[in-house]
Order: sequence, then structure tokens, then C-alpha cells
Amino acid sequence: MTHQSPLPRRLHVITWGCQMNVYDSARMTDVLAPLGYATTDTPEEADMVILNTCHIRDRAAEKVFSELGRLRRVKEARAAAGAPTILAVAGCVAQAEGKEILARAPYVDIVLGPQTYHRLPEMVARAARAGGAVIETDFPAEDKFDHLPAPGPASGVSAFLTIQEGCDKFCSFCVVPYTRGAEASRPAAAVLAEARHLVAGGAREIVLLGQNVNAWHGAGPQGGVWTLAALLQELAAIPGLLRLRYTTSHPRDMDAGLIAAHRDIPALMPFLHLPVQSGSDRILAAMNRGHTAAQYRETIAALREARPDLALSSDFIVGHPGESEADFQATMDLIAAVGFAQAFSFKYSPRPGTPAAGVPAQVAEAEKDRRLQALQALLREQQAAFNAACAGRRLGVLITGAGRHPGQIAGRSPYLQPVHLNGPDHLAGQEVAVDILAAHTNSLSGALAFPSTAAIPQATLQQERVCA
Ligand code: 5AD
Ligand code: SF4
Repeated sequence: MTHQSPLPRRLHVITWGCQMNVYDSARMTDVLAPLGYATTDTPEEADMVILNTCHIRDRAAEKVFSELGRLRRVKEARAAAGAPTILAVAGCVAQAEGKEILARAPYVDIVLGPQTYHRLPEMVARAARAGGAVIETDFPAEDKFDHLPAPGPASGVSAFLTIQEGCDKFCSFCVVPYTRGAEASRPAAAVLAEARHLVAGGAREIVLLGQNVNAWHGAGPQGGVWTLAALLQELAAIPGLLRLRYTTSHPRDMDAGLIAAHRDIPALMPFLHLPVQSGSDRILAAMNRGHTAAQYRETIAALREARPDLALSSDFIVGHPGESEADFQATMDLIAAVGFAQAFSFKYSPRPGTPAAGVPAQVAEAEKDRRLQALQALLREQQAAFNAACAGRRLGVLITGAGRHPGQIAGRSPYLQPVHLNGPDHLAGQEVAVDILAAHTNSLSGALAFPSTAAIPQATLQQERVCA
């Protein structure tokens, strides 16, 4: 009997949204590889196109339908040339609007929610048999991670690893608890195995992902439940793994053990994304965030005590229903008091089905615009000051690959800033000492501190790490 290998086929994946979606797209690619699918950069060449969507942004559904219109034309042109195309919509918009997608875009073959990616091969087979469109958006009782293959070779020096999904926090404005379901943590052993696999494939930095990553509480290998701090300790011991990060966290889950991990684990990078959304206690309560502005500042103070050079990032929403000028000023005050190295900020926009969307006291659009501009100006100033303070310092830079220009390489500082410098490509995967020469809006440029050896004298780095 001869073993038949699958026909070579092409897969094009379009990824919108957060790092969780980037991770999910990679897993969907892995799951389809045994069927013969290799990736391609253009939908025109693809036998299957997956649009992996994000529901958190404004007018998410409209953007999906407009992209689907474009893909429909590609599918029709390919069909005219005799080549069929399977068109799949994945991610949170698929989860929330599955039926609507099939009604408005009947040329879509597969709609699948984030919990059903392991069933993709079966859905593809069903779609290929032309049995009509397939929709899979239930939250299955089984753990999808148990059914996904081991990830393919690490695609880079820095790799994502999802350890937690879903959220039970139910912030007033947010769709995640409805689209990604209840909070679920992967067992420690599964996370450690995947991490070792990534490091064996060349990863030197692992970014742990979860909608609410610091709520992770996975089953321990010998029974019991581990905390994120314990998991980080264990991950840091993997030989060859230089750097650890985790995102995105909730202030309420930032417990003493995790704060201490920032002091005790050198591989845990001194940069933390900790969304606060607002600086007003009234709005924080309306948002159902479960903490006050003062409690957030106390958490930041404790973190900075544990790791004095910790750089901070956050998310802000302006114009949540009921937000007054005084509430907005409280947010500006919090930003001024904390000082952020980087941040994301949004105008509140109602998401159907969330509690805040039904509140009558919506803030006028022009007012939201004005507040967002003022807030972003302040955040830009802080980011520029933070970057500027790095010029003249020596930082450890993890080289991720070639830079934009010949002879250039690029990497990341401990504070997640992109860094450009001249150097040989073979430094990819190494942490090198870089003298930072100039700061730009979103990046730094520098020069190898030890060009002949490019080795890092650790003592030099420890002293020079503080940057702002
Ligand atoms: N309107 C505006 N911003 C939102 N975010 C989530 N939902 C909304 C919404 N309805 C922002 C929050 C969150 C980030 C990922 O997106 O700041 O932390
Ligand atoms: Fe959404 Fe984050 Fe709030 Fe969960 S904690 S509901 S993911 S904003």
C-alpha cells in the first residue's frame, strides 16, 4: 500500500486585531498543514483564504463585510479560471455575527469562532464536498488546545504563546466575555511543553498571551493550581530562553506574588501593559473595573518598588457614557502622575449587547474627539520623553533579524522599543549591548557596544539598564 501525500495547496490568512489573533492564525496554519496547505502572501494564489477578525474595534462588522466584498471578487475571478477557493471567516466577528455573515455574504464557506479552530480540517472537508456553508461558533466543552497539533517551528526570535483565553470581568464596554467566553487557563505542563518546543525552534523571547493573562491559574503538573508567578519562574529556567513578557493584564489580578516576580525573575522584561481605561473613580465604577484610581497607583508604586526601571503601558477610553469634563481631567491627572512609556487610547464606541451601549447618557462625538486629542497629546509627550531618556544609555537589545536597509539589523530593547543598528545578520537571536544614539517617535537607533565580539558583559548591562 502506498501512502498518499496530500495535494499541495495554498493558504492565505488575513489577521486583524490583537496578538491573540496573530497566535490563532499561526495555529490555524499549523492545523491545515497536514492537509497540504502552505501559506502564500496573495489571496489570488490561494485555494483557501481565512479572514481572522477582531470585534473590539469600531464598526468591526462593516469592515469585515467590505473586505469580504473584495475577497468575493478574487474568488469569482479564480472560479472563472477553474480554480475553487474556500473562504473562511474566523475570530470574534465570526463568533458574534456568524448567522449574519452567512446571510449577507453567502459566498463565505466557513464561519468559525475562536473555540473551534481544531475542527478546521473537518470543516474544510465538509466545505470542499460543497455541502453548503459550515458554521461553528459554539463554545465546546472540550479544550481546543488538546486537539491542536504542536506548533510548527518557531517563526521568529520572539514567539507568542497563548496560556489563557476568555474573560469573566464583564467591563461595561467590552465584547470579549461574550465573544471569547468564560476565563480558561491552560495547564502548566502544556504551556511548558509548548515553550520548550518554541525555544528548540529558535525562540529566545516568549510573550505569554491571554485576554486576562494575569488571571491565569492553570493546573500544576503534580496537582494543585499554579499562579502566573510560579509559571514565569519555571519558564525562566528553560535553557536558551532569554526574555519573558505577558500581556494583557487586569489591575485587579496584579497580586503580591506576581509583583514580586518582577523583582525576582531577571528574564521578566521591565515593561508592563496594564490597562486602566480611566482615572475617574466614578467612571471606573460605571465601567465595572472593580478598582479605584488610587488602587491602580498603589499597584504601580509596588511594581516600581519591585523593579525600579519598569516602563508602563496602558489602554484608555475617553467618552464612556456619563464621563464628565471632571472625570476626563481625572484621567489626565492619572496619566501625569504615573508617566507612561507608551499607550493605546480609544474613543468609546458602543458595542451591541454590552451594558454601556444601552446607557442614555452618551457623550457627544465632538467632545470625545476633543478629549482624545488632548489625551493623546499628553501620552505622545510622555512617550517622546521616555524614548529621549534612552539616548546615551547602553541597553540590552534582542536582535530579531535584518533591518530595513542593507547592513542593518533590528531588535527590541527591554522596554519593547524597536531598535535599529548596523551589524551582521548572524546576531539574530542574541541579546547584544547597544549604545543608544538617537530616539525617534516610535523607535531608537544605536550602535553595537562591542562590535568585535558582540558579546554582552552582563555586569555592564545590569548597571546601565535604567532608562527613564
Ligand atoms: N470602545 C472603545 N474602546 C474599547 N476597548 C474595548 N472595547 C471598547 C469600546 N467599546 C479598548 C479598551 C481595551 C482595548 C483592547 O480596547 O481600552 O483595553
Ligand atoms: Fe474586556 Fe479586558 Fe474588561 Fe475582560 S477585563 S471585559 S477583556 S476590557
